[in-house]
Amino acid sequence: MEELSKALKIAFASEFSFYLKAHYFHWNVEGINFQQFHDLFGGIYEEVYGSIDDFAENIRKTGSYTPGSFERFTMLSKIDDETEIPNAETMAQILLEDSDKMAEIFRMVFVISEKYGEHGLSDFIAGRQDAHRKHSWMLRATLK
Ligand SMILES: [Fe+2]
Repeated sequence: MEELSKALKIAFASEFSFYLKAHYFHWNVEGINFQQFHDLFGGIYEEVYGSIDDFAENIRKTGSYTPGSFERFTMLSKIDDETEIPNAETMAQILLEDSDKMAEIFRMVFVISEKYGEHGLSDFIAGRQDAHRKHSWMLRATLK
């Protein structure tokens, strides 16, 4: 169960970092296709943010405390922090790579969750994997 809690905290911190980056790009994107990218990043951050509270409470259900500070998120997250303002296409490329990484993290966490027979949790994790598959599809299609 310790293994599952640890994996969940890493996935949670990574998901929060991903959310923050998508929102950061939504705020700061510029260019001739501003509206398109602003809306694309907007749809992504809103979907991911909508999952955060359930995610945190799922960690509490395993008996662990939920991380919720920038310091802990930095320690745990597998998603690199962004401090620059890349151009719009680069923003989409970065988010695509991160979204693929998130789908892969959820794929691994699902296996651990199933190992402990946590089917409800597995269902949530499967939903997150699928959500990132959709975000990746939209980002990839935009970049073609
Ligand atoms: Fe906005």
